[in-house]
Parts: sequence; C-alpha cells; structure tokens
Amino acid sequence: MRIGVPKEIAPNERRVALTPDVVGRLTKGGFEIFLERGAGSAAFFPDEAYTKAGASVGDRGSVLGHAEIILQVQAPNPESLTQIPEGTALVAFFQPGADLLRQLAQRRLTAFSLVLLPRITRAQPMDVLSSQATVAGYKAVLLAASAAGRVFPMLVTAAGTLSAARVLVLGAGVAGLQAIATARRLGAIVSAFDVRPAVKEQVQSLGATFLEMAIEEHAETAGGYAKELSEEAHKKELVFLAGAAKDADIVITTAAIPGKKAPILLTAGAVQGMKPGSVIVDLAAETGGNCELTQPGSEIVRNGVAILGPLNLPSTVPLHASQMYAKNVAAFLGHIVQDGKLRLDFEDQIIRDTCVTHAGEVRKS
Ligand code: NAI
Repeated sequence: MRIGVPKEIAPNERRVALTPDVVGRLTKGGFEIFLERGAGSAAFFPDEAYTKAGASVGDRGSVLGHAEIILQVQAPNPESLTQIPEGTALVAFFQPGADLLRQLAQRRLTAFSLVLLPRITRAQPMDVLSSQATVAGYKAVLLAASAAGRVFPMLVTAAGTLSAARVLVLGAGVAGLQAIATARRLGAIVSAFDVRPAVKEQVQSLGATFLEMAIEEHAETAGGYAKELSEEAHKKELVFLAGAAKDADIVITTAAIPGKKAPILLTAGAVQGMKPGSVIVDLAAETGGNCELTQPGSEIVRNGVAILGPLNLPSTVPLHASQMYAKNVAAFLGHIVQDGKLRLDFEDQIIRDTCVTHAGEVRKS
C-alpha cells in the first residue's frame, strides 16, 4: 500500500507525520512510503535518513497524486486538496470544522481526524491528543521559566537564599500533569486544581498539592471528560482561583471542555490581584483562553503580570513531537489497514469516531 507524507505547509508547523525509524518499520511491514522532499527537515530529520529507511523522496505533486493514504499533521489547504485524487484516504490531526468537512467530502476523500480518537484503552497507542499535550505541558513550563524574573528552585547561596517558585496548574489532564511534573523537576513548589476529583491522586503522586473546592454538581462525563460547570459553580470557582492565583509566581492553565470554548478560570480582576513579575501561560489560548485577558498568539503584560497565549506549542519541540506523532499514526495505520487494504468497518468505534468523510458524504458535523 502506498503512503504519502507531504511537507507541512501551515504557518509555524515544524512537525512531520512520519519519522525515519517509523518509516523503517512500515516498509518492513509491506508499506511503500513516498515522502515530499524536505518534509522532515524542520523537525531535524533529513531526506537521507528517510531514504536509508526505505522511503522514496520526491516532489509534492507526485506524493499527493499517487498515494493511497496521505499522512499529515495539519489538514491540507484548499490548493493541496485539488492535487489529491478522489478516493484517497487522509489521516491528520485537525478540528473537523464544517467548511473543511464539506471540502473533504466534495473531493470524495476518506478522511480521518485524529482529534476525534476515542480515549479508550485500545486506542492509547494512537492517542495523538495525549502525546502532543504532553509536549505542550512540558514546553509551557519552560516558557514560564524563561519569562519569569526569578529562578524555580530554592537556592542557598553566599548571596543569600532564594525561595522556590510557586507554580499553580489549572486543569490536571494530560498537559497539566506534565506541566506539574516539569515544574517539580525544576524545583518549584506546585499546586493544582481540576474540577474532576478523580485527578487528585495523580496530582499528589507527582508531589504537588491538590487544591480542593467543594462542587455540589458532578463535573465529569461518563467518558472521563470535564463538563461545563453551572453558572453558580463557575462563579464560585472564579473566586476560589483568584484567591489561589494571589500566592502564585507562575500559573499554567490547561482547562478544556471537548468541543466547547475554553472555560474562563482567571478574570481580569484575578490578574490584578497577582504579584508583579508573575507569569501566566495559557495553554487554552487556541480555544479562546482560560484567562480573560489572554491574546492568542501574543504575550502581553497587565499590572506587571506577563500573560502568554502560545499557539501550537508541540510544533516548537518538533523532533520529539514528531517522534510521538509518527508512532501514534503508525498504530492508527495498523488499525485501519488490513491485508494491504483500507478496512472501513464502521462497527469499530475507533474507525466510526474518526472517519469524518467517506464516499462524498460528511459523516460527522
Ligand atoms: P482536556 O484537555 O479535555 O482538559 C484538560 C483538563 O481541564 C481536564 O483535566 C479537565 O477536567 C480540566 N477542566 C475542564 N474544565 C475545568 C474547569 N472549569 N476548571 C478546572 N479544570 C477544568 O483533558 P485531557 O488531558 O485531554 O484528558 C481528558 C480525559 O481523557 C481525562 O479523563 C483523561 O484521564 C482521559 N484520558 C484517557 C486516556 C485513555 O485511557 N486512553 C488517555 C489520556 C487521557
């Protein structure tokens, strides 16, 4: 089966869908891999490493035009879509917006969105959301550390003792837990909050304090995701978090509700109550932000508090983000291909949930 890997052309996207070691495994498994020239170079994987692993390297037109399955990180843009023949399958990590779905269906592509992968045990090796969130959580702490005017660990020096930084992590999902672990490794004193009480033990096992606020309602869905809080509970949360943020030097926010705008956790008033020199890194910037003042893609300062709203952090760690992405995608490929053919068994939850267009139809809205 012919697999095409084009170069990512979205602005600031440095990841690549397959890495040379994964190409090596796939070619041994009977796949033929066609890679666009330079596709891995921004992630530090040169073309020679791919050819050594068994891939053919060529121009974009031939990669898009001859593959049976195209693997990407971002969704193709409208121009690339016109270069992909009808009936080709596409696997990428994209939000399935209505316009894009219509275009994919018009081109009669069988498209799979890895954003929709169910968080079930057998899908764990394919879990792109988790692998990329891990990288984002790690990098968020490094951004905070370099924007802060203080060190993270307690230092006892001849020039006096420096106290450890106090880091507050809001939302303790995959990214939040990695942010906690990274801040702890740098020597910070870490506390965290989440509306899902189930994460308390995970937070504590990383050596952080779990902040508890009594919420009368059940804030978790049967699938393990957070639910939107009622207006009353949300108001209570805002007051509670404004109090917690006052003591923090660094706040990393990661809270998300699947398919919805990010919940506001820090109001402008809460930022005003924070110490000058503190830093907020808002990982939810892409979906609107957890801080009322966040400007997605920018860094601003309000009352001496730096508020960073970075976008696509995994792309800023392209080597390891691609390495994990490629392993996830190879596992997904192994699931959707059987005996050299695309297996479209819509009874299977992984295939049913991720396949967004097929045979000219939009299967998800
Ligand atoms: P996410 O990115 O959807 O959300 C991040 C965190 O924000 C979550 O922990 C959520 O509870 C929290 N949050 C939402 N609203 C909040 C609010 N108002 N205040 C404070 N915190 C708030 O979460 P992620 O990391 O994608 O994980 C979602 C679920 O998937 C979790 O239950 C996780 O355990 C599960 N999961 C399952 C896996 C598997 O078994 N295959 C693998 C990875 C995650």
